[in-house]
Amino acid sequence: MNINLVKPLLISSFITIDGRGVDVHIVDNACLMIYKATNIIIHGIRVHHCRPQASGMVMGPKGNIMPLGQVDGDAIRLVSASKIWIDHYTLYDCQDGLLDVTRGSTDVTISNNWFREQNKVMLLGHDDGFLRDKNMKVTVVYNYFGPNCHQRMPRIRHGYAHVANNLYMGWVQYAIGGNMKPSLKSQSNLFIAPTTGKKEVTWRKTSNGVRDTWKFYSVGDAFENGASFIEIKDGQVIKPNYSLEQKFKVVDAKFVRSLTRSSGVLRTM
Ligand SMILES: *[C@@H]1O[C@H](CO)[C@@H](O)[C@H](O)[C@H]1NC(C)=O
Repeated sequence: MNINLVKPLLISSFITIDGRGVDVHIVDNACLMIYKATNIIIHGIRVHHCRPQASGMVMGPKGNIMPLGQVDGDAIRLVSASKIWIDHYTLYDCQDGLLDVTRGSTDVTISNNWFREQNKVMLLGHDDGFLRDKNMKVTVVYNYFGPNCHQRMPRIRHGYAHVANNLYMGWVQYAIGGNMKPSLKSQSNLFIAPTTGKKEVTWRKTSNGVRDTWKFYSVGDAFENGASFIEIKDGQVIKPNYSLEQKFKVVDAKFVRSLTRSSGVLRTM
């Protein structure tokens, strides 16, 4: 089924969208948005060829019609959202990015997805001036990035990301980057550098010749094809401090290839 949205679809709190067992594409126009909502699971759909939308009236939470400003053409955009789980998605080829976590969004888990064919993949943190994103915590785990992802897997501003057990099938500019003092625990990922071009995994913004400070740590990552990772030399690795219920198993990087083989929408028999 191809769903061609006329306006962005705003998902309300306490909703699960589950595409298992069917073949659903949200395609060719407006896409998904989670705006001031919480406790949402979305699973198992394909979202691609999303396009920018002019401002206009949309149906918001509780069925209220509300004005929504212009949007850039992301597959999924989170605005002031929390407790969101995005699992087993296949996302590609959108006009802006694939996934944006912005404006004070936090407690977001992005797992088992397949991101491909995209310049700007994932943005965590709204903009340089949005200080509330300091409290942002995002977990990026068991995802497959590539082929043809260029940058932002993710790009982090202000907040914290735990990025574990993902497979990076090359990049163009970089894989993980950030500015505005972001922090990162990169753990047991497999970084396969592109054959030609940049081998460095990370990127950090330089303004007026000064490099932004950051706390990027790499723990147990595996590097192939000459990939390298510039990490901070001092201090302690910043832990995600999961509760007992939030804890999950991070496996050795040598298992990442097989672990991410089922990333994206699960194939139905
Ligand atoms: C986890 O707790 C430690 C100790 O209190 C703290 O320094 C660190 O910033 C916390 N991690 C996050 C992601 O908030």
